[in-house]
Order: sequence, then C-alpha cells, then structure tokens
Amino acid sequence: MTIFTKANLIRFAVGTICFLLLLNFLWTTDSDGSSSSSLSKLSIRRVHKYAHIHNRNDSDRSAIGSDIPAGGHKLPAAPLALSKERERELHIVGRNSNSNSTSTVIAIANFTSIPQDLLHAHPQDFANGTQTPQVTQITQNCTDPDPRDGGPITPNTTLESLDVIEAELGPLLRPGGAYQPIDCIAQYHVAIVVPFRDRYAHLSVFLRNIHPFLMKQRIAYRIFIIEQTNGKPFNRAAMMNIGYLEALKLYQWDCFIFHDVDLLPLDERNLYNCPRQPRHMSVAIDTLNFKLPYRSIFGGVSAMTRQQFQAVNGFSNSFFGWGGEDDDMSNRLKHANLFISRYPINISRYKMLKHQKEKANPKRYENLQNGIGKIEMDGINSIKYEIYSIKDFPTFTWYLAELKNSERKS
Ligand code: BGC
Ligand code: MN
Repeated sequence: MTIFTKANLIRFAVGTICFLLLLNFLWTTDSDGSSSSSLSKLSIRRVHKYAHIHNRNDSDRSAIGSDIPAGGHKLPAAPLALSKERERELHIVGRNSNSNSTSTVIAIANFTSIPQDLLHAHPQDFANGTQTPQVTQITQNCTDPDPRDGGPITPNTTLESLDVIEAELGPLLRPGGAYQPIDCIAQYHVAIVVPFRDRYAHLSVFLRNIHPFLMKQRIAYRIFIIEQTNGKPFNRAAMMNIGYLEALKLYQWDCFIFHDVDLLPLDERNLYNCPRQPRHMSVAIDTLNFKLPYRSIFGGVSAMTRQQFQAVNGFSNSFFGWGGEDDDMSNRLKHANLFISRYPINISRYKMLKHQKEKANPKRYENLQNGIGKIEMDGINSIKYEIYSIKDFPTFTWYLAELKNSERKS
C-alpha cells in the first residue's frame, strides 16, 4: 500500500494550486481590503515608469531654483523622489465613470484620511496613524482672527529640504496638507490650488511659510499642487482648472484660492477666504514696487467662490506660456457682472521668490481678444486631461496632470 497513488497526486497538485492562488490573492489585497485587479497592477507600473521618466527629465534641468540660496541642502528632483517609503499604495479606479467629465483618472491614492466629514479632532491624533481620532463636541463657530492681533510678517526664505519641512509641519496637519481649527467650526473651507512645474525650491519655501500663516486664520484648508507633465508649454490656467475639478472630488470646498508658488504673504491680516466678490489678493508685490500694475490685474493670488468660478466656466485653457490667462479671467468676471475686490495695499503685500523671467506668450493678446466669445466653450467644461498620479504628501496633495487640449487650436 503506497500513498503515491494517482488520486493522491492529483489531490496534492490541486491543493498546491489552490494554496498558490490564495497566496496570490493575499499579496494583491490592499490594506483597505480591496483587491487590485491586473489592470491596476499594470497601471501602477505605468505610473511609476512615467514618474521615473518625469524625474529624470526634471533633474536634467538642473538650473531649477538655482537663484535661491542653497544652504547646502540637496533638493529632491521631484516630489515623487521624496519619502517614497511613506507613499501610499496607488489604488487604481480605472476610467473615470463620471460621464460629464472629460478627464480620465488612471490612478488615485488611498484617500481614506481625507476629512470628508471634517471631524473636529486634534490633528496630533492622526499623526502616527495608530490612534483613533478623539472626537470632541465643538459647537462654536470660528470667527475671523482679530486684525489687531495680526500684522506684518517676515517670511523665512531659507531653503530647507521637503523632508525637514514635512517633519516640522506634518504632525500639525492631516495627510495631504489639510488643516482645520481644533476649537471651533471653520466657516470657510478653502482649497488652495497651486499650478506647478519645475519650481521645487520654491515649493518647499512656499509650504514652510504658508502653513503657519494659514493655521492662524481659523479656516479649514488643503493645499493642492497641480504639476503639469513635460511636453507642452506651461498652462497655468489649465492647471488651476484641473485643481478645481480634482479638489471638488474630495470635498465641496466653498472657496478656491489660486496661488502662485513663488508668492509669500507679508501680512497676517490678509485673510484667505472668499468674500461676496472675487478677490485679487496679491495687490502689492515687492518686485513690482508694492504697486498694483493695473486695475484689472487678477494674477498671482486670487480668490473665488465655487459658484463664481462655475459661473465663468473657470479659466480659459487656451493660454500656453506666460501671460494673459489672468486678464482673460478678469474679462470673464466682468462679463458675469462680478467685480474684483481687494484688501488695502498695506495688507495685500507679497514677497516674490526670485526666478528667471519667463518668455511671454506672443499669442496672448490675440487670445484675449477672442476670449469673450469663447467663455461658454473654453473652460472647465472643455478641458481634457489625464491624471498620472495623485499622492497625499504630509504637507500637500500632489497631482501629476497631462493636459490633452491642443496648443494649436488656441
Ligand atoms: C500679463 C498678465 C500678468 C501681468 C503682470 C500682463 O501683461 O498678461 O498675465 O499677470 O502682466 O505681470
Ligand atoms: Mn513669479
């Protein structure tokens, strides 16, 4: 009598296959219990491969931020190069099922920590990820900080690596660079949308200054960095449109502040909220002698409610390269009977970080001329883009976006 009968061998083989299949299933199951499909694994590879190429291209342009005192700190080539071990596993959601959106989302991070509910918990409770948030009952609405408590500030422009800034600020924030007051109910939920490419040195200086500045304002906010892939000239306005659309997938923000990465506020009384009319915030910039260049300017830093932005169909997607896109927004606002409001010039002051002057887009005047007739067909309803990656870094939420709208048609 032998155990090596044909029937036993078949049983053994089937058992081994089942065991291997089980192992494979466990291996591909993500921490939240969902199982990755083969499509997702393929796309993750695509995302990482893409990110790798992207990083390499960026480090080729080593002049980035070289006008900023380096202080001996090694700068990351791209945000992706940072804190890799802390990155969340990407969860692929496949084609975007939202049929009225023209975007295609191929990868989305695990955003389980996003304060969809805006629980009033101490940010520290989230810091190590092991504790259950302590929910305290807060019934009091936040009030604006007393202007007498705020005044001029000097930003810290010393360059520090993002890792150090993350270590400093991360424990005070929720993942993705989100914050809300702990002792009152925030009256403004503000998405700070930063169009981005190349300026890694500016990014860390921006983050180290903007977070402490905003935390004092008793608002709930989150920083969205929208990075444009290589290939086409930079389209600041399109990145802001993408930031708007993507931010709304996370939370119904009532206020959007579009913010250049090289501008640092110089006065604490400059409140980052949305008044009844759109607000141009960066009125007095040091490099422009602290003077407003012209009345209709709407560039740099500007605030709009969700309703206002929606009413003008967002920004035009036709402005590639430097200039004009903010003037076009100014025209859109006027067309919608909205007015540009501003804080007094002694409050709305900014420092601009040094960078080389960009080459102005020669087509910007022509685009501006044609702009008014195109409001309904050129904006958030016509933008085409693909998101290659989304990650919630400790001090910001990062999107890598490829704009699909053609440059020639503009
Ligand atoms: C450009 C704007 C820019 C402004 C100030 C104008 O000529 O069209 O986009 O914001 O100059 O620099
Ligand atoms: Mn600038």
